[in-house]
Amino acid sequence: MFNIHTGFYCLAAILLQICVCSQFSVPSSHYFTEDPGAFPVASNGEPFPWQELRLPNVVIPLHYDLFVHPNLTSLDFVASEKIEVLVSSATQFIILHSKDLEITNATLQSEEDSRYMKSGKELKVLSYPAHQQIALLVPEKLTPHLKYYVAIDFQAKLADGFEGFYKSTYRTLGGETRILAVTDFEPTQARMAFPCFDEPLFKANFSIKIRRESRHTALSNMPKVKTIELEGGLLEDHFETTVKMSTYLVAYIVCDFHSVSGITSSGVKVSIYASPDKRNQTHYALQASLKLLDFYEKYFDINYPLPKLDLIAIPDFASGAMENWGLITYRETSLLFDPKTSSASDKLWVTKVIAHELAHQWFGNLVTMEWWNDIWLNEGFANYMELIAVNATYPELQFDDHFLNVCFEVITKDSLNSSRPISKPAETPTQIQEMFDEVSYNKGACILNMLKDFLGEEKFQKGIIQYLKKFSYRNAKNDDLWSSLSNSCLESDFTSGGVCHSDPKMTSNMLTFLGENAEVKEMMTTWTLQKGIPLLVVKQDGHSLRLQQERFLQGVFQEDPEWRALQERYLWHIPLTYSTSSSNVIHRHILKSKTDTLDLPEKTSWVKFNVDSNGYYIVHYEGHGWDQLITQLNQNHTLLRPKDRIGLIHDVFQLVGIPTDVLKIVYSVGAQTTTGWNYLLELYELSMSSAEKNKILYALSTSKHQEKLQKLLELGMEGKVIKTQDLAALLHAIARRPKGQQLAWDFVRENWTHLLKKFDLGSFAIRIIISGTTSHFSSKDKLQEVKLFFESLEAQGSHLDIFQIVLETITKNIKWLEKNLPTLRMWLLVNT
Ligand code: BES
Ligand code: ZN
Repeated sequence: MFNIHTGFYCLAAILLQICVCSQFSVPSSHYFTEDPGAFPVASNGEPFPWQELRLPNVVIPLHYDLFVHPNLTSLDFVASEKIEVLVSSATQFIILHSKDLEITNATLQSEEDSRYMKSGKELKVLSYPAHQQIALLVPEKLTPHLKYYVAIDFQAKLADGFEGFYKSTYRTLGGETRILAVTDFEPTQARMAFPCFDEPLFKANFSIKIRRESRHTALSNMPKVKTIELEGGLLEDHFETTVKMSTYLVAYIVCDFHSVSGITSSGVKVSIYASPDKRNQTHYALQASLKLLDFYEKYFDINYPLPKLDLIAIPDFASGAMENWGLITYRETSLLFDPKTSSASDKLWVTKVIAHELAHQWFGNLVTMEWWNDIWLNEGFANYMELIAVNATYPELQFDDHFLNVCFEVITKDSLNSSRPISKPAETPTQIQEMFDEVSYNKGACILNMLKDFLGEEKFQKGIIQYLKKFSYRNAKNDDLWSSLSNSCLESDFTSGGVCHSDPKMTSNMLTFLGENAEVKEMMTTWTLQKGIPLLVVKQDGHSLRLQQERFLQGVFQEDPEWRALQERYLWHIPLTYSTSSSNVIHRHILKSKTDTLDLPEKTSWVKFNVDSNGYYIVHYEGHGWDQLITQLNQNHTLLRPKDRIGLIHDVFQLVGIPTDVLKIVYSVGAQTTTGWNYLLELYELSMSSAEKNKILYALSTSKHQEKLQKLLELGMEGKVIKTQDLAALLHAIARRPKGQQLAWDFVRENWTHLLKKFDLGSFAIRIIISGTTSHFSSKDKLQEVKLFFESLEAQGSHLDIFQIVLETITKNIKWLEKNLPTLRMWLLVNT
C-alpha cells in the first residue's frame, strides 16, 4: 500500500431478526436524559439526541432505494433515497451518518402507510457535523419489531478531492478535457454521497438508479436491468438489487469510458473500463482478472455471487485500488498495462493489485470485519491471498520473492516502540484511516503465512473455506477466524486415525480438538494483540540448543536504561522451524516460554532457524552460530535454500541496525541536463501511459537543480500537469535527493494548510508526505525542528500516530550514527 507504485510506480427480506440483532454490540439510548446538558449541540443550536460516534443499534437498515442524478456540467448532484428499516426497541429518533450533504426533505412511512400508499410524515432533521451525523426526529415513538421507510431528498456538489462522490478529469488525445463522476467510500465516506448507516456491521441490500445524459454510461455494483428515456433526452439506468453488503462497498460512476469484456468459466461477465484513448492498455488486466476469478472460485469453493464484475481505471484516484463489490476502481497505473512502456515490475504490480481486489470480493465483501479495529481481516488476508493466487496463476512472476519483502518492509516499522498491535481500537474517521497501514497489510499477511506453514496448506485452505461459508453476508472477528482455522478436518485424518479437530465420535480427538482450538487462538493472539516482533537467540551447546526469546527493538540497546521496561510482559508463541547441517528435514517446535532447550538427535555443525523465512521472527546465533553458517556458505552455499540465505542476510542487517535506502540509488541520466529535463517534462504532459508517466516523474525528481525541483512541487500543487494524486509520492522522492531534502521539508511546513485542503488528515497521502519528508533526518537539530512542527500541529488539534513513528525513527537514526560513525570513518580511512 505504501508501495511506491501507488505514487510513481504505485501506492451482501429480513433475515431472522434475532440473527441481525445479535451482531450488534453498541448500547441503545433513550431520547434525552434528565440532563440535557449531557448532549451535544446540533448546528441549529438545539440539543442533538446522540453523543456517541458509533450509531445506536435500535434502528437497522434493511434496504436502500437510491436515486442519484449527477450533473457533469454544473458539477453537482441531486439525489433521493428510501431506506427500509427495522426497529428493535421504541425510539423517537433515527441517527444516520451524513457529511456535507444538503438535506432538503425527510419523511417517514410505516409499513402500513406504504402498503396503502399513504404519504409519509415530515421529519425534523438535526445535524451534528462534528460526528458526521444527522438525527431524524419522529413525531411518535417508533414501535419495536415494525418496519418503516425513511425517505430523504438531498443534494451536494461533486467533491473536489478523492472521497465520497467526486469529480475526476482526463485529457483526450485531441487535447479536450473531459469529466467523470466517481465514488470512493472506504472507510467512512459513503456518508458524503448519501445519508446512511455508515458502519460495516449495517449490511443491507441496495437498489440503485442513476440519471445521466445519453453521451455517458452509468456503472454500479450490479448489472443494469433497464434504461428509461425521460422527457428532454435524459436517460435513467436502473440496476439490479445488490446482495447484502456494507455501505463502504457501494459504488457508482458516470463516465464516457470504453471497455473490453470476457466471460469466466462459471459465466461471470468481466469488463475492463478505461478512458477511450487507453482502451488498448486494458487487455492484460482482462486476461489476468478472468484467470484470477476462476482461481478464487475454486480455491474458496464459493462462486463469485454477482453476475458481473467491472474493473475501471480512474484518472484521479487516492489509493492504489478499491474493492467495491462488482465495480472495482483502480488508479490507472494499477490496472493499465502498455506493452510498449510498462516494465516487468509494472506487470507484477498490476497482477498483484487485481489479485488483491479480487480476493476482497470474498475477504471483505462476502465476510466483513465487525469493526475497523480488525481491518487486518480484510487487508491482511487480501495481501496474503495475492501470494497464493499469483503463485498459482502466474508462477513466472516469482511472487514468492516479492512476498519476502512484504514481511521485511513491516519488520523495520514493527521493531520501533511506536508500532501498534494488529488489532487496535479506532473510533474517529482519522483513527480509522490510520488503521490502513503496513501493520494491517503486511504484518497481517506475514502472520497468516506463518500460520499456514504451521497448519499445513490443506488445513489452512479448509479453514478459510469454513470461515467464508459460515460468515457469508455477515461480519466476523478475529476469534471467528481462529475457530474456523483450528476446526478444519481433513479426510486423511479420518482414514489414517490421525488428529481430526472436530470428530465428535472420538473422545480423544475431541480433546485434541479443544486443545488445538485453544492452541491456535492462544498462539495467534500473541501476534495480533501484541505489537512488535520477537528475537530468537539460539546457542548451540553440544547436542542441545538453548533458546531464548526477547522483544526485538531497533535503536534500543541492552545497556540502555529503558531496555528492561520495554521487554516486560512481551511473550510470543513462536512456531519455530529449523534445519541442521546433518539433515535437511524441517524440524518443528513451539516456543511458548522465555527460554527453552531442544535436544538435537545428532551432532551438527550448524543449525538454521526460520526455514524459508516463513516465520515472523528474527534469529541471532550466539557463540559460534554465525561463524558456522558463514563457513557453510563459503564452502557450498547451495546447501542452504535461497529463502534461507535471504533470511540470514536480512536478519544480520536487522541485528546491526537497516539503512537500506543508501543501496537504492536510481540513476535518471537524461534528467541531469536542462535540455533533457525540459524534454522529459514535455513528454510527461503528452504521455498516454501512466506507467511511463511515473517513470518520467521519478527521473525529473532526481535533478540536482533546486529550481527544477521547486517547479515540480508547484506543478504538483496546481494539479494540472502533475495530478494532485501524485503529489505525496513526488514530495517523498524529492526529499530523498540531497538537493531536495530541505526544499521538500520547507514546502510541507509552508503549504500545510493548502495540503490539508487537498487531502484528509489521516489519509495515505498526508501520512506519506509527513514520513517521506522527515523520517530520513539524522541530526538533533532536525529532530528539534520536526518536534516543533508536530507540536504546532497538535496545538491546532491535528494528531496522527505517524508523528511518534517519525520522531522515534529520527532518534534511531541519530543513535545509529553516533554508534557507527567512528567505525565508518575508520573504514573509510582504511579503504579509501
Ligand atoms: N480497501 C483498500 C483501499 C483503501 C485503502 C481504502 C485505504 C481505504 C483506505 C484496497 O483494497 C487496497 O488495499 N488497495 C491498495 C492496493 C493493494 C494492492 C495493496 C492500495 O490502495 O494501496
Ligand atoms: Zn485491500
